[in-house]
Amino acid sequence: MDAVSTCEIPVVPAIHPAVLRRHSPMAFEPGAEISDDALDTILDAGRLAPSAGNSQPWAFVVGRHGDAVHARIVRHLAGSSARWAPDASAIVVNLARVLVEDTDWEYSEFSRYDLGQAVAHMTLQALSIGIDAHQFRAFDREAVAAEFAVPREWEVTSMTAFGVAAHAAGTVAGVARERRSRGDVTWTRVRADEPR
Ligand SMILES: Cc1cc2nc3c(=O)[nH]c(=O)nc-3n(C[C@H](O)[C@H](O)[C@H](O)COP(=O)(O)O)c2cc1C
Repeated sequence: MDAVSTCEIPVVPAIHPAVLRRHSPMAFEPGAEISDDALDTILDAGRLAPSAGNSQPWAFVVGRHGDAVHARIVRHLAGSSARWAPDASAIVVNLARVLVEDTDWEYSEFSRYDLGQAVAHMTLQALSIGIDAHQFRAFDREAVAAEFAVPREWEVTSMTAFGVAAHAAGTVAGVARERRSRGDVTWTRVRADEPR
């Protein structure tokens, strides 16, 4: 009989290489082009993310470096992100569906949670095909909504710049990369060698 899952947990688990490599580049290689196939694959990884009740409360505005959508996105970047994001091969605007159409009813209490999860899937998928990603909020949210006629039931939540980092992970000056310890983020846990 076919097993439900063939994944086995290794005795000594290792962090996945894409998770280890992931960082938010502050500089992208300006000449690195991204193919339509690569963008399709990244979007598909987002589509495949889980969501509350399978509500899939996400949508994306996709601008590839040099195209008209990219130019319309770049116009609304804040000074800080305008220094590095336009060089990326693509900028994707991440939208969360927050309201039911023509009402003030919340669409899903997990809309932003689910969007973040879809973006995380996209980020790791991109890394697995050699594309780095930097998520950011430094842009004019209202101006982007107006630019792309985003209706009020959708929120322009964040953007992701995709491209090839112009430096290696861990060598980024001025970016906070320290992490809270495992102990600090673990609220409660009983380890296998402790009394249950
Ligand atoms: C929702 C969100 C918003 C962010 N906004 C910005 C931003 O406006 N500008 C920026 O340079 N980085 C931004 N970042 C990137 C974080 O600063 C970065 O993830 C954090 O410092 C950890 O560094 P690392 O991603 O390289 O591990 C944002 C990340 C997330 C998830």
